[in-house]
Amino acid sequence: MKYAVLGTGAVGQTIAAKLRSQGYEVLVGSRSAGEGKVSFAEAAAFGHIIFNATKGEASLQALALAGEGNLGDKILIDLANPLDFSRGMPPTLSICNDDSLGETIQRTYPRLKVVKTLNTLNCALMVNPSAVGGSHDLFMSGNDPLAKAEVHKLLASWGWKTIHDLGDISTARGTEQLLPIWIRLMGSLGHADFNFHIAQAARAHS
Ligand SMILES: NC(=O)c1ccc[n+]([C@@H]2O[C@H](COP(=O)([O-])OP(=O)(O)OC[C@H]3O[C@@H](n4cnc5c(N)ncnc54)[C@H](OP(=O)(O)O)[C@@H]3O)[C@@H](O)[C@H]2O)c1
Repeated sequence: MKYAVLGTGAVGQTIAAKLRSQGYEVLVGSRSAGEGKVSFAEAAAFGHIIFNATKGEASLQALALAGEGNLGDKILIDLANPLDFSRGMPPTLSICNDDSLGETIQRTYPRLKVVKTLNTLNCALMVNPSAVGGSHDLFMSGNDPLAKAEVHKLLASWGWKTIHDLGDISTARGTEQLLPIWIRLMGSLGHADFNFHIAQAARAHS
């Protein structure tokens, strides 16, 4: 399996390093090719599975540069958040309420199999869930059950045990809208090494 990681920030670098440590071939895409990175288009053409690890507000521009033909009907793991920092901290969401970035990407590229996940925790924990003690959870949204199963397999290989399949891509509204509370928790805890855990009454899931 070959992977494309669109995005050269902390998340893109972390995901690419993890995939390479597992023996996968990875190309990292950027607006400008250079040391250790290629164009968004070259990366997207290369990958069987594509990560969207670009700035949420610019993800549509990045995907346009990747090119519809290169994206095709591949799986796109979307972990971007549509954060708007234009009015300072804390950021607001540039897409929210009755829409989400995940849906916007899916609408723009209907053949793409968008799977939204990993956007609700910091990137060090994405690839190393055991850094947080006890049980803690991931969420997943997407229209294509086979694509979600493929992504689930990859995440399980990273150590993820509890992944809540919330349903179709419209459920990404819920996880993207967790960001306002995530950001405030980071402020009150003073660090980013935490995650959400959904606790259920015993009879609720018997
Ligand atoms: N940081 C975390 O731990 C974390 C956790 C969960 C989710 N996320 C989400 O993951 C994504 C990546 O976060 P990050 O902190 O690694 O990096 P980031 O600074 O949010 O994004 C960097 C990437 O966005 C691209 N980009 C920026 N402006 C662009 C534009 N106008 N057109 C096209 N591409 C543009 C950059 O391209 P160049 O390579 O050309 O500069 C770069 O590859 C974000 O959506 C963030 O909300 C982050």
